[in-house]
Amino acid sequence: MAKWWDYCIIGSGIAGLYTALLARQVGGSVLILTKGGIDECNTKHAQGGIAAAIGKGDSPELHLKDTLAAGDGLCYPEAVRILVEEAPDRIADLVKFGVPFDTMDGEVALTQEAAHSVSRILHAGGDATGEHIEVTLSRLARLAKCEILEHCLVAEIVVEDGVFKGVRAFDCRTGAIEEFACRFAILATGGAGQLFKFTTNPDIATGDGIALAFRAGAEITDMEFIQFHPTALRLPGVAPFLISEAVRGEGGVLRNSRHQAFMAGYSPQGDLAPRDIVARSILAEMKSTGSDKVFLDITHLPARTVAARFPHIYRFCLEHGLDITRSPIPVAPAAHYMMGGVETNTWGETNIAGLFAAGETACTGVHGANRLASNSLLEVVVFGKRIIQRTAEVLDGRGLVAESGSQAVHHLSRRKATRSAPPSLSALQSLMWDKVGIVRSGEALSRSATTLAAWERALGGPSDRPSYELANLILVGRLMAEAALLREESRGAHFRSDFPHPSPGWQRHIVFRAES
Ligand code: FAD
Ligand code: SIN
Repeated sequence: MAKWWDYCIIGSGIAGLYTALLARQVGGSVLILTKGGIDECNTKHAQGGIAAAIGKGDSPELHLKDTLAAGDGLCYPEAVRILVEEAPDRIADLVKFGVPFDTMDGEVALTQEAAHSVSRILHAGGDATGEHIEVTLSRLARLAKCEILEHCLVAEIVVEDGVFKGVRAFDCRTGAIEEFACRFAILATGGAGQLFKFTTNPDIATGDGIALAFRAGAEITDMEFIQFHPTALRLPGVAPFLISEAVRGEGGVLRNSRHQAFMAGYSPQGDLAPRDIVARSILAEMKSTGSDKVFLDITHLPARTVAARFPHIYRFCLEHGLDITRSPIPVAPAAHYMMGGVETNTWGETNIAGLFAAGETACTGVHGANRLASNSLLEVVVFGKRIIQRTAEVLDGRGLVAESGSQAVHHLSRRKATRSAPPSLSALQSLMWDKVGIVRSGEALSRSATTLAAWERALGGPSDRPSYELANLILVGRLMAEAALLREESRGAHFRSDFPHPSPGWQRHIVFRAES
């Protein structure tokens, strides 16, 4: 490997850009590899905002309590404590970088989202928080002299004797494979929403980091937990654009196709119940009314307030013929956020020395079985900072230590060989939506896992970006289906119709590692 950097950062959403900027501050040389244009990522689409206990009447203790309650017994409490206590300082960092959080009467404006007991969500540009973060950080990354290679898909993590050595990447424009040697890699590749037929995630969300890390020998945890956002726009021919939870936070009411408000019948928290409860309640209402959608109604709010507070949503809907100040918004659930991922300790370290993971691809343990809204952008900045603190010690001469790894790991089960034609992305997305989605059963999961294993065997060698991504999605889908099959209970975002209650024996994590 000819070229060499201190940091190879894979991905250019908030996790990649924020860690890149901090790495430059500690004097590291930085290479950012990203498979699309620099701003193609989930981050750019974030609407609601970023959570931090900075308001009157709030405290890290209260934020901790809400996060643990949403995580339904599976959060790592130590990681959550770090998250909530370091939050205010990390928000201050973002402000210093120039992220223009909204203010009201000279104070930072805070909104409410589901399962937060107080208003604690900072936002920018109303509902354009992610876009402001992405634009601000990507401009700074260029100024900070990070080397940025766009349209460069990382295809392999190179590990020798348990130590990270470098990456192999596929140039999506020329088809060439290039090798990059570096001291540390930070996987910042985002989520895997593209596994599902309906998702709020853009095309890049194909679970690459999880697949790359698994193949390299890293541990992958909590894969059965994928969050379905209750309210994605459901209009014929229009992608499931997110209608932020903040819309309910500001007073929006869910109604079924008979115009009846229904959430009070499902949860004492009503429209602001945790996401998994709202998503399943919507499915139940859709089923009982024979409709493919419900409605989110904000027509009772002053039109000017709606347009000013949610300019992005207002404009998007208007461009598609819907004035949300006059008509209720047709919505349905869609895959949104991956709670599981590459297992890390509280310094972002994986079980491979030199390999770190940050952001949605990582499993730091702060989300448990269900993420509290707006905790993910926060998780990135809190644990991203800790990765740079840890690696700076190494730059200063301290040795690299691999995490010892979990005691009990699962391997992917060897499913009986069945013949299959090579799959298509849409066949995969339909299978995952129908059988590994919001409501699951053992029988459907078992059949899906077998199908996924057969599809994996039927794949040819990847030769372009879509074929690399499809191979990654199928592997990640397998990890998800197998984990969901193992977990014979219902908890957080994982619901099994054949095991509809939580089981105390299952208050533990499912960890996968490839057989060596
Ligand atoms: P991303 O921002 O997705 O970036 C991943 C990057 O990795 C991309 O640049 C991608 O191209 C690159 N990449 C992927 N694979 C490869 C590869 N093989 N090689 C090279 N590059 C690769 N969270 C909140 O906290 N608050 C919110 O209000 C909020 N709203 C959301 C709204 C929407 C519509 C969505 C989809 C998510 C929202 N989330 C929100 C979740 C949050 O936005 C994401 O979890 C977060 O932005 C993830 O950041 P990331 O940097 O980890 O990943
Ligand atoms: C939203 O705005 O509803 C998304 C917030 C999140 O996913 O954290």
